[in-house]
Amino acid sequence: MKVDPNMAPPLFWEQHYGKMTSEPSGRPSAVLKRFVENRATGTALELGCGRGDDAIWLASEGWQVTAVDISKTALDYARANAKRSNVTSKIDFRTCDLVSDFPDGDYDLVSALFLESPVTFPREAVLKQAAAAVRSGGMLLIAAHGPMPHSSAHSQDRVFLSPRQSLNQIDLDPAKWREVFVDTIDRPGTGPDGKAMDLTDTVIVIERI
Ligand SMILES: C[S@@+](CC[C@H](N)C(=O)[O-])C[C@H]1O[C@@H](n2cnc3c(N)ncnc32)[C@H](O)[C@@H]1O
Repeated sequence: MKVDPNMAPPLFWEQHYGKMTSEPSGRPSAVLKRFVENRATGTALELGCGRGDDAIWLASEGWQVTAVDISKTALDYARANAKRSNVTSKIDFRTCDLVSDFPDGDYDLVSALFLESPVTFPREAVLKQAAAAVRSGGMLLIAAHGPMPHSSAHSQDRVFLSPRQSLNQIDLDPAKWREVFVDTIDRPGTGPDGKAMDLTDTVIVIERI
């Protein structure tokens, strides 16, 4: 379905989550697990946490998590899920628009997993703030959807950057960052028509020196 790109972001995301009938998977993103599972725990900032599966997994691994999203409905789900998983005390869920109200502080992990939007969203500027929120020794983890073959709705009017182009866009000082992984990852997933298909994600994992 074609989305009006001028729709107000809070309204778009409220409607998006309000219409969802399926339960969250209860599993973390594969990319989060892959790059964070064996890391020393600390403080984590999760940007665009949606219904909370990744924040809950981080908390259950021992991280102290700040998880933010523009959608109150998504966060209501996330809080209920965190309660069921007994990790409420480990996660501070906050409703906020990252464009105007980026959380203060610095963190050992900042993750922006599929922080993408079909309505107005200055992703590059938000990712620059995400990088600035990583403390020395900490990690920035960014994943984004790549193009889907045969999917005009998903790909409508979108420009898909390579991992390297995405990293260049954030324009970080190379002397202050160590690259861990800047590449694509294929994974089994579900296409917009609900059918199983292989998806390609662009992934950036970098550490603040
Ligand atoms: C494509 S979803 C990804 C959700 C989740 N991270 C995942 O991997 O399933 C993008 C998320 O970003 C949130 N979001 C979009 N624009 C935002 C903004 N300006 N501030 C905060 N969150 C935003 C949406 O509500 C949504 O939960």
